[in-house]
Amino acid sequence: MSKNVLVTGGAGYIGSHTCVELIEAGFNPIVIDNFSNSSSVSLERVEELTGKKVCFYEGDVRDRQFLDTVMQAEEIDSVIHFAGLKAVGESVEKPLEYYDNNISGSIILFNAMRDNGIKKVVFSSSATVYGDPHTLPIKEDFPLSATNPYGRSKLFIEDILRDIYYADNHWQVTLLRYFNPVGAHKSGRIGEDPNDIPNNLIPFIARVAVGQYEYLSVFGGDYDTPDGTGVRDYIHVVDLAKGHVKALQAFEKDDLDNLLTVNLGTGQGYSVLDMVKAFEQSSGNEIAYKIVERRAGDIATCYADPSYAKEVLGWQAERGLREMCDDTWRWQSQNPQGYAA
Ligand code: NAD
Ligand code: UD1
Repeated sequence: MSKNVLVTGGAGYIGSHTCVELIEAGFNPIVIDNFSNSSSVSLERVEELTGKKVCFYEGDVRDRQFLDTVMQAEEIDSVIHFAGLKAVGESVEKPLEYYDNNISGSIILFNAMRDNGIKKVVFSSSATVYGDPHTLPIKEDFPLSATNPYGRSKLFIEDILRDIYYADNHWQVTLLRYFNPVGAHKSGRIGEDPNDIPNNLIPFIARVAVGQYEYLSVFGGDYDTPDGTGVRDYIHVVDLAKGHVKALQAFEKDDLDNLLTVNLGTGQGYSVLDMVKAFEQSSGNEIAYKIVERRAGDIATCYADPSYAKEVLGWQAERGLREMCDDTWRWQSQNPQGYAA
């Protein structure tokens, strides 16, 4: 069996960390990326960390000819599909761009896979597909819903993959629903490098800690949570990356279903203020904050039941809150301009 894994969006935040873990587990990532939200420096750093050359093609998942060229040049066994746009607010402003990139891109990719005889795929879904859950922790069989074009694109791609599998059960499909990825490789050489003002909590806190922003706006202090601020299941990106390796290894097990849907979270919820305190400890800097209005579309609490991941993939998160903040801080303080410097 070839160990070549096509990694779409492999230069991005989760993709670059996954490439490191894939190489360390003996897989050979073949990266495709159009660099719309990343830089080739991340791949150079992956090479530096692993001591291995990363096979890389610059191009777009919506370009069928490009995909055929890559698939015909490399003996691809499976695909991890990260490529897509991911900012919720932007998706409301630019729905067509999101549907084109995420949904059309996925359809073109899955067609190219089928026509080139590649039928194993791991897809990056999100806890956003659970909408506002009625009970907690969140299990994989909870009802699904979407409140914005980004979430709808994830839900739709999940549906497309389920239908592909129902039509041809030779496909092996694993839908990984990520909770809130944070942290960075412990070397401080790769990490999250948002192009713009960060939308997500931890990249924003990290920039307050290095002095790029004066204070954090805490979106809502009146939620029904222990301290009134939103609670989320933050998961270290290296744990998340290892979940992808386990998902590929699970394709080789005969006793598992060929369509798996798995939460990747820790099962532990932390509030915004818990994160502020933890980051203050890691950075040694005070994080100024102001409690402001709730952000539209936010929910009070979201955390996973991660027990199915342990059962089917033999995976569980190993890195705790302190490590998430220490590693984010190392990355942010050593690379205050991200990869641009
Ligand atoms: P990212 O933006 O860092 O990585 C995505 C990569 O895909 C980037 O390198 C980008 O340049 C590339 N890309 C985008 N459109 C492309 C296209 N049409 N063709 C080729 N390359 C393209 O994002 P990430 O945080 O690493 O997320 C990876 C995946 O995980 C995304 O699908 C995202 O929706 C999903 N996800 C992310 C989170 C999160 O909080 N980071 C949570 C849940 C799900
Ligand atoms: C967001 C997305 C979700 C996506 C996930 C991972 C929204 C509404 N949801 O989830 O679809 O899957 O990212 O990419 O954007 N917060 C602040 N101040 C800030 C930023 C965030 O108080 O400046 C709070 C939020 O209100 C929330 C928590 O921090 O309670 C985490 O926010 P964030 O990192 O944006 O993740 P989610 O909203 O959970």
